[in-house]
Amino acid sequence: MTAQPQRPAFGTLLTSHMAVATYQAGHWGKSEIKPVAPLEISPAAHVLHYASTCFEGFKAFRRAEGSVHVFRMDRHLQRFQQSARQLVLPEPDPIQVADMVRAVINRCRDAVPEAPGALYLRPILFGTTANIGAAATPTSEALLIVLASPVWDYFAGGMKPLRILVDDQNTRSAEHMGMVKTGGNYAAAMGPTLNARAKYHADQVLFCPDGQVQETGAANFFLIREGELLTRSLDSTFLHGVTRDSLLTLGRDLGYTVTERKFDVLEMLDWAHKGEAALSGTAAVLAGVGTLVYAGTEHRVGNGEVGPITRALRTALIAVQQGDAPDRHGWLERV
Ligand SMILES: Cc1ncc(COP(=O)(O)O)c(C=O)c1O
Repeated sequence: MTAQPQRPAFGTLLTSHMAVATYQAGHWGKSEIKPVAPLEISPAAHVLHYASTCFEGFKAFRRAEGSVHVFRMDRHLQRFQQSARQLVLPEPDPIQVADMVRAVINRCRDAVPEAPGALYLRPILFGTTANIGAAATPTSEALLIVLASPVWDYFAGGMKPLRILVDDQNTRSAEHMGMVKTGGNYAAAMGPTLNARAKYHADQVLFCPDGQVQETGAANFFLIREGELLTRSLDSTFLHGVTRDSLLTLGRDLGYTVTERKFDVLEMLDWAHKGEAALSGTAAVLAGVGTLVYAGTEHRVGNGEVGPITRALRTALIAVQQGDAPDRHGWLERV
């Protein structure tokens, strides 16, 4: 067996260049490619006081012959626009942001890792108007930056089943903000997640306000069993994951019965006893859950290992992303 080279942790390495656009006087200016460097913004900038910020995260994949393909950029940029709208930030133009993404990839093409690595793309948008009295006034100026980060296989050390704390006490976000990809939601999940790690050695918290299963701090939640997928139906309380949508589509293609509806903690524990559970998201794709900890009791999911259907679905999605299976739904764009 050859030794694995030491890889930087997910998100810690950036490419040399980024794309930047500024919103001023009611319109977006032309974007530019610049070296990644510290920014100069006012200490009174709107974002630093009133959290006027949103972001996206998606991947580009390099094929064996060298071509680079971005996965479902249109869906991510739609969500970016929707997040900005909900936060009353200047709306990014998806056509401009897509051009910025392509420009970063073109400038940093050599930094796109080979499979199973990928280039993680991270557009961010934030309010820069200098005004510390703007709690109820939207920013009138903003910066939009597209960062890129070479990332390697999330599971380089092997797919370990996750240990999840089921939390029916805390909420991850305000009810109307769950579908918005904004820093404040991650800040709200941070305390409960760190407590769960310290107290229960949990990897993540599954938020279940009013006993209804929602999502974890950074991923959507699936219940899986022979021929069947179940996940919560879309509403404003959680992030509408692009991976979630892709897995539901692939599941239908493969002949699974796909159900989107609300379900509660007791139904989940009952299902998990014999079935599988998994978290979905751009970073981890589909990560199997081995244990659910609820009200001080440990519940093993299936046999406690990553389930076979979870593995098969994960493999099927990665095959499409990496060009090893047909792209039936037009999810990939060659850059
Ligand atoms: C809170 C939350 N839910 C779900 C997801 C999964 O979304 P996606 O599949 O679009 O990456 C993410 C990851 O971005 C997330 O942060």
